[in-house]
This record gives sequence, structure tokens and C-alpha cells, in this order.
Amino acid sequence: MSLIDKLDYNRLPCHIAIIMDGNGRWARARGLERSEGHREGVSAIRKVVEAASKSSIQYLTLYAFSTENWNRPSEEVNGLMDLMVYAITRETADLIKNGVRIAYIGDIERLPGNVRETLEGCIRETAKGERLTLVLALSYSSKWEIAEAARKITCDFTKGILQEKDINEKTISRYLTTNGLPDPDLLIRTGGEQRISNFLLWQCAYAEFYFTDTFWPDFGEEELYKAIIDYQGRERRYGKISEQI
Ligand code: FPP
Repeated sequence: MSLIDKLDYNRLPCHIAIIMDGNGRWARARGLERSEGHREGVSAIRKVVEAASKSSIQYLTLYAFSTENWNRPSEEVNGLMDLMVYAITRETADLIKNGVRIAYIGDIERLPGNVRETLEGCIRETAKGERLTLVLALSYSSKWEIAEAARKITCDFTKGILQEKDINEKTISRYLTTNGLPDPDLLIRTGGEQRISNFLLWQCAYAEFYFTDTFWPDFGEEELYKAIIDYQGRERRYGKISEQI
């Protein structure tokens, strides 16, 4: 029996965010190059996107490349960029067929031109998808995003578009790259580490965290359902007491 049958459809997380970690260790444990781990990581993405769509999750955000990942050896960075072009090109037709809309967050100006063009093409072609929004975090970090928001807010303040009284939580959210997306309900991190690594710091203020030792290439449909079931066993109090919920 699949764990999908154990999901409570009245209490699904609307938005799941995932820190996909452990590709390198997965490969090394098998005597393979790290790049093999990233390739298997793409297969895991496919499985998880299908599972999210099947279980009626509306938003899935994947931390595919962080600002800090630019500091990896150039060979690995170039390999990841090529892999993104390959994977996005190969998957676009299926994404359209399955009603998956692609979006991104991050500083995509830093991406090589061919990656940006492939991504933008996929965004255009999948724009009508209504089943699941798949957000790719690319060249993304929370501190970059918050600093950018502060810069844009100051700019609009100087132009008179914003006034001091307008500065509140809603305004700040509007200036983040996640504008228009609901905050994540559930943040999953694979690969055994228990940290947030500069990912959606503002947006995860009330997210439930789920950590698993499973390396990302081994994370699949059932693992996703297991995380959702764990989430459904939690009480989200948002600072209130149980009796008020
Ligand atoms: C983390 O494992 C994984 C990454 C930094 C890259 C993930 C990216 C992909 C799987 C490709 C994405 C493709 C698309 C189309 C979005 P790690 O290398 O940090 O593993 P380690 O901690 O074991 O070294």
C-alpha cells in the first residue's frame, strides 16, 4: 500500500519547499563522480514533482542552486549549469502535459545566457499550467533577496512611491522575489544536515521543518508522503495556545 492513501486531504500543506542535499555523498558512497549524484538528483526531482502533483500540492519550491554554490569548483558549477539546460529542455513537454507551471526565484542575471534562455522559454511554455507551481530557486539566497528588497524599497521611497507609514510586513513581502507565492507550510531538508542554509528565511517564519538522513537521489514519492504525514501530525499554533486552535 502506498502512503498516499494515508494523506489527510483536508490538511495538506499548500506549499512545500525542499533543500535537496546529499547528491555528492550519494555518489561518493558508490565510488562515482559527484556529477553522477546530480544526474540522479534530477531523476529524484521528476519523481517528487509527480508525487506532489498527484497528492494535490499546489506549490513546490526546490533549492537547486544557492548563491554560495557559485564558490564550488568551476567544473562542478559548469556541469550543474549544463544539467539544468538538459533537464529543463527534456522535461518541458511533460510539464505542459501535466499542468505544471514553472517559476523561479533568485538572481538569474548571474546564470549563463543559455540557462537563462532555456528557463525563460520553459516559463513561457508552461505559463498556463494550473495543477502545480514548481518554483526553482536558482542563484538564490535569502540574505541576497532581503538586501535587494531593502535596496528597491529605498529606491521607491526616494521616488516618493513609498512613504514611511507604508513600511510593514506586507510591503516587505511584496518586494521579495517570492511576491505572489504563499509562504511554505513545510520545509524538507534531505541529506542529514539540520540547517536552513540561507533559504527562505523570511518566508519560513512559521514553516514546519522536516529533516531526513536520506540523500536527495534516494528521496522519492513515498518519502514525500512520509514527510507530509509527519507534517499532518503537528499542531500549528502560530504563537497561540492549543485551546485556541
Ligand atoms: C546538493 O547536493 C545539490 C545541489 C547543490 C544541486 C542540485 C541540483 C540539481 C539536482 C540539478 C537541478 C536541475 C534542475 C532542472 C532544477 P550536494 O552536492 O551539496 O551534496 P553533498 O552535500 O553530499 O556534497
